[in-house]
Amino acid sequence: MSSSALHDRGNARVRTGRRAALVSAAVGTVAAGMVLALATAASAGTTLATAAAEKGRYFGTAVAANKLSDSTYVGILNREFDMVTPENEMKWDATEPSQGQFNYTNADRIVGHAQTNGMRVRGHALAWHSQQPGWAQNLSGSALRSAMVNHVTQVATHYRGKIHSWDVVNEAFADGGSGARRDSNLQRTGNDWIEVAFRTARTADPGAKLCYNDYNTDGQNAKSNAVYAMVSDFKARGVPIDCVGFQSHFNSASPVPADYQANLQRFANLGLDVQITELDIEGSGTAQANSFANVTKACLAVSRCTGISVWGIRDTDSWRASGTPLLFDGNGNKKAAYTATLDALNGGTTPPTSAPSTTAPPTTPPPGTGCTASLSLQTWTGGFVATVRVTAGSAGTNGWAATVTLPAGTAVTNAWNAQNSGSTGTVRFGNVAYNGQLTAGQSTEFGFQGTGTPPSDTPSCTAS
Ligand code: G3I
Repeated sequence: MSSSALHDRGNARVRTGRRAALVSAAVGTVAAGMVLALATAASAGTTLATAAAEKGRYFGTAVAANKLSDSTYVGILNREFDMVTPENEMKWDATEPSQGQFNYTNADRIVGHAQTNGMRVRGHALAWHSQQPGWAQNLSGSALRSAMVNHVTQVATHYRGKIHSWDVVNEAFADGGSGARRDSNLQRTGNDWIEVAFRTARTADPGAKLCYNDYNTDGQNAKSNAVYAMVSDFKARGVPIDCVGFQSHFNSASPVPADYQANLQRFANLGLDVQITELDIEGSGTAQANSFANVTKACLAVSRCTGISVWGIRDTDSWRASGTPLLFDGNGNKKAAYTATLDALNGGTTPPTSAPSTTAPPTTPPPGTGCTASLSLQTWTGGFVATVRVTAGSAGTNGWAATVTLPAGTAVTNAWNAQNSGSTGTVRFGNVAYNGQLTAGQSTEFGFQGTGTPPSDTPSCTAS
């Protein structure tokens, strides 16, 4: 894989705080008196997470547990991102180093950090031909199939309620023009190993979105066509799948394809979410910045593209550091690629259908000076995901808190884009750093997952 030795010098960007722009305010005088034209508020995010959230998307990064003691790394992580993917810590070799003996220490550190800071987690990856522990590499046939099913069950159950999306199966198709499955010990257990993994994951964690994830599938080609055929078949036969992940590792030999958006769209048209899961683009300067902007715009243009994750924070954190493929330089400074990505997030126009982020502009000023909250639910036997929409009143907010009353026996297991106090009874959800400030009439969403009977009352909301 080619790489550039040039280091981007970074582009430290003056932080100006939250920018709020009045879109229009016009006063006209007519004979009968004054007509006050509408003043509607629009805003631009000042971080990747806030800008993405205003388009109803998340913005995530791969995280390595051993870097959570690096204050520069954590400072950027907490400021810029609202989704994390453990880079290696949830893989089979890390979580089940000996058969039947599970070690969640490092993955739990990342999940704990995410929960403490109001971020969500992409789980990566339950079943993969690579990074298997030695004992699994030496298994075959029904013994390997059973081991895979047990692994998926154990890991997905351990993290039940804490995962936004799981990469259930990773990289199962061959490169090149064959359109064939990749040969692997898992593939040799039978062609149905992928759907078995998905069914097993659904049973273990019914609240997580279940994704198929791969690379070199970013444009239309033989490999992506084969993935398309498989997920079409899964949808037709009711195999539980919710999303397709496009890793999006790019460099000069494998640039962002011209049909990137069209390829995302054709998968979305199958009734699936699409996610950009491991984005990095080797290069520097304007060319790299333009490529990041193009990827970001493509996601915003596809209503079911629900989020973007980059594969690391600083160039020096990358699995291919010499290619300087990320948004921050080795010192943690924002690169031109960062600015281009943020600007693209702020310039996009298409809200997602699955999680709209903005309401239609109000025709009258929003009532009251506090805030209001509304609740929507996705439920299944024994559990639910709640999405709470907080809307600022006429004074806007510097912070807010929504209070939800839970039925007896119900408990919150995980929250995102908000910090909860308590998990049973009357639970208060306060804003996190990036979503407390709302202009008049502006909305933001947070969510939580719970076990038991879902709440039925409208949450109350207080603003500061
Ligand atoms: O932690 C050990 C260290 O103790 C040891 O001294 C060193 C010696 O080689 O290895 C270290 O582990 C390495 C690990 O990364 C942590 O740095 C492994 O050797 C190395 O194989 C591993 O590479 C990871 C790679 O997946 C393995 O396939 C990369 O970090 C990770 O970024 C990469 O991520 C993959 C995605 O999971 C799937 N898509 C492609 C993507 C990039 O390859």
